[in-house]
Parts: sequence; structure tokens; C-alpha cells
Amino acid sequence: MVHFVETVGALDAWLTSVRASAASVGLVPTMGVLHAGHEALIEQARRDCEHVVVSIFVNPLQFDREDDLRRYPRLIEADLETCRRVSVDTAFVPSQTEMYPNKPTTRISVGPLGDHLCGAHRQGHFEGVATVVAKLFNIVRPQRAYFGEKDAQQLAIIRRMTADLSVPILIIGVPTVREADGLALSSRNRHLSLGERQQASALFRALEEARRLIEGGTVEAGSVVRQALEQIPREVGLRVEYLEVVDPDELQPVERIGGPVLVAGALWVGDTKLIDNVVCEPTGQQS
Ligand code: PAJ
Repeated sequence: MVHFVETVGALDAWLTSVRASAASVGLVPTMGVLHAGHEALIEQARRDCEHVVVSIFVNPLQFDREDDLRRYPRLIEADLETCRRVSVDTAFVPSQTEMYPNKPTTRISVGPLGDHLCGAHRQGHFEGVATVVAKLFNIVRPQRAYFGEKDAQQLAIIRRMTADLSVPILIIGVPTVREADGLALSSRNRHLSLGERQQASALFRALEEARRLIEGGTVEAGSVVRQALEQIPREVGLRVEYLEVVDPDELQPVERIGGPVLVAGALWVGDTKLIDNVVCEPTGQQS
């Protein structure tokens, strides 16, 4: 049975009793509309920890557009059913006023890690993510917390925040779960029409082409990006927001590839923004 908790006070009381018998608590922070990607995080937490907490909270601090926040899907009944199915112990589902009884003025600044990729296009987004994650860490106080590699910039920023602030929580990254054609699972995929859904896999094809080039020894990042972009057809409704080659930890642009890199992209398909990435390393002959 899933223990359903809506307030910080009730969660605190409940987890105090849990901690008396469970050696380890794992946290999976989410914004709900749970899919197989979220389930992979929960399953990893289930393997590692005696008690698994899933938080479901659509965090207004990380939305720069009011309509995007309003449009974000909410499916709490189905989410609780998923929690039951995958043996979550506790679902923490606070309201906005429970999380932010006062208008929050404090933000965690993420520095240059937020300057590129999605950070360059969504003002204040990663400050909002880091702030809510820090808050969830303080509320739940888990030993481990689970994040998807699909959101590579988010994962790198959380790892850095945890190290910089000496947060005593182990951050675990979980590989991206994909559809058969490579499209990364995302709550936003449900916005795609049938036609858009077919167009959407172009982002993964571009990233795979980048991987092929880098592993084959292409060292000029500019050349990798140019050739990878050729995988994305020039069709109405498709717009590349960015496709960049960056250092996987510092998230700064790389010009000549000499070690592991993160290739990350964002593709607008109609009104839906999709993001994805691959980490790759040159293995072949340099050209
Ligand atoms: P959300 O988009 O709901 O994602 C919750 C977690 O699931 C994130 O760590 C994300 O990287 C992971 N995830 C999403 N799709 C995935 C996939 N296809 N494969 C593997 N993991 C996947 O990310 C957020 O919420 C929020 O920013 C949050 C961290 C909860 C802070 O508000």
C-alpha cells in the first residue's frame, strides 16, 4: 500500500517512524504524469533502498511561462495507481501553498552550469529546479535521490549543487528510457499529434549521428553539429532550438573533442519542446 501524504508536517511525522526501522530512504522527485521513464528511477530506488518516497509537485519556480505551467498535465489518480503498481512506499503530493506558504524569494544560483543548452533559453529555470530540489531534500532527508540522464543538464546541476553545499545525499543518475524509434519518454509527448509523433524521432537520429561521427574520430564540434542537423528534415513545424557539444560536468561548449562530451539538443515539434542527449567519447582514428 502506498502511504499518501499531502503536508510537510504529516510527512515528517511519518518518516520519523519509518526511519526507526528502515535503514535507507530513497527519493524520486517528479512532476507527475508518471511514465516508464519515471518508473525506471523508482525501480532503481526500489533495488537500492528500503523505503522509497516519490514526490509529485508541479513546481511553479521552474516555469518561465505562465501558459506552460497551466498546460502542464496533471493526472494524480493515475499516478497513484502507478505508485501502487511499482511498490512505492510513500507518495508526497503537496499543494503549492503547502510548499510555498510565503511567496519564495530565495533561489539557489547555479552559475555557469545554467548558461548553455536549456539554460540559455529558459530564464531562471534551473534556479527554480535547484531550489525546489534542495527544499525536497530538506523535507524528505533521503540517503539517495534519483534523477534521469534524459535531463542531463538538470542532473549535472543537482550533482554540483549537492557537492558545493555538502548535501549528505547520494545522487544516482538513471539511463534514459526510450520508445522503439528512439524518442525519449516524456510527459510532453502526450501533446504530440500523430504526425508530430512521427517527426519527433528526428532528434534522436541527429544525436545518434553525432555519436557515430564522434566515435569515428571527428574532432571539430562544429562539423559534428552541422552533419547531425542534416538528420532533421526541414519541415513545417520542426524547429531546432539548440544542438550543442559541451563538457559533461561543466556544461561549457567544446570546440575540439578530445574526451567524453555531452551532445544535447532541443527540438520544437509544433508547440511541444522535446529535449534529449547522448554522452559519447572518441574511440576511433582522429580526422
Ligand atoms: P519530471 O519531468 O517529472 O521528471 C522527473 C524525473 O524523471 C527527472 O529526474 C527526469 O530526468 C526523469 N525522467 C523523465 N523522463 C525520463 C526518461 N525517458 N528516462 C529516464 N528518466 C526520465 O525533472 C523534473 O520532473 C523536475 O524538474 C524535478 C526534478 C521533479 C524538479 O521539479
